[in-house]
Amino acid sequence: MSVTRQDAERLDAADPLASFRERFVLPAGVIYLDGNSLGALPRETARRVAEVVNGEWGQDLIKSWNLHGWIDLPRRVGAKIAHLVGAEPDELLVADSTSVNLFKLLAGALRLQKGRPVILSEANNFPTDLYIAQGLIELLGGGYELRTVPRDQVLEALDGRVAVLMLTQVDYRSGALWDLAAVTERAHAAGALVLWDLAHSAGALPVDLNGAGADLAVGCGYKYLNGGPGAPAFLFVARHLQEKLHTPLSGWLGHAAPFAFESEYRPGAGIYRFLCGTPPILSLAALECGVDLALQADLTQVRKKSLALGELFLDCVQAAVPEFALASPVDPQQRGSQVSLRHPEGFAIVQALIARGVIGDFRAPHVLRFGFAPLYTRYVDVWEAAAILAEIMATRAWNQPEYRVRRTVT
Ligand SMILES: Cc1ncc(COP(=O)(O)O)c(C=O)c1O
Repeated sequence: MSVTRQDAERLDAADPLASFRERFVLPAGVIYLDGNSLGALPRETARRVAEVVNGEWGQDLIKSWNLHGWIDLPRRVGAKIAHLVGAEPDELLVADSTSVNLFKLLAGALRLQKGRPVILSEANNFPTDLYIAQGLIELLGGGYELRTVPRDQVLEALDGRVAVLMLTQVDYRSGALWDLAAVTERAHAAGALVLWDLAHSAGALPVDLNGAGADLAVGCGYKYLNGGPGAPAFLFVARHLQEKLHTPLSGWLGHAAPFAFESEYRPGAGIYRFLCGTPPILSLAALECGVDLALQADLTQVRKKSLALGELFLDCVQAAVPEFALASPVDPQQRGSQVSLRHPEGFAIVQALIARGVIGDFRAPHVLRFGFAPLYTRYVDVWEAAAILAEIMATRAWNQPEYRVRRTVT
């Protein structure tokens, strides 16, 4: 390897984000490069969740909805996430899962864009995005169409039939990054709305939804926001669209007056209509800890470090193991916070890495994914991960039957 361990240590010593690492629980002997799938546990989370369980739920029971502001949590945490993605506090809400939020916003967008029957997306978009669009179209009973095209044909496929362009800003497999502002502008010029999936963007890089004139967005709480497994997701609706957009999931907490218990649905004001049922308070409390940490970091520094970590990893891997094909864009500026490699034995190689304490993940058919969460990943971790990968390849240590056993979650 051209880069030495000492080089990596020097980069860590000069890292302005270095002190964030101690605020996470990171098991000894593990190099965690999967924060793009499930972020690490912030130290504060266990204390805070115990406080909510024992002190609030345990002691104050149902009074806690008012006393401890539980009812405001979707809005409160949403306002904090808004700050991370360039939205106003009243444009973003924490609710449900990313999939459910996609359903709500897609349905609202189709209804608003009458006479335009097409949802346009990338053929390689994350499956849930496509599945939700397919399910919605089926529910609407004909007349609508999901048009999926290869990435390089998306912009030219924008025509007068497209109601909404649905894209994931950072591709989950390759890490390829869309230019939010440029794509939004092109879609608007064609009369389409854009629904952005920010699952791999929020907390990983600066996002400026309002600067881009964005319409709609969704995103995950459990990746770079470190909200915990199954953390609730978020949704963004630009202020000027909020009163025009209807949600098909007209639940009681999205009602204008939930505690009036009226029999007829009336949508709540602004973004609040996109709430549906009772929010998961324990999960929201955990998510808030992750979001609070992200808010303390300068996202420009986060982005800078994320790119540097990715480049260090690639430099080391490509010098030692030229047989890997790069499955991410070559230009780091065109990538999110991950680097993906392609290899026909990708699955077994990832299992061999995990057995040696390096946790990345595998995405079918051949992609090895390495996510770099700059708040807790050190340069030296990345250097060591690359060295272990090189050793696995040199010795063919991946070529063991136990590394071919596929479990439910890959
Ligand atoms: C781009 C993208 N969208 C959505 C999801 C998942 O959404 P949900 O929160 O509904 O599981 C993921 C999960 O990895 C994802 O990568």
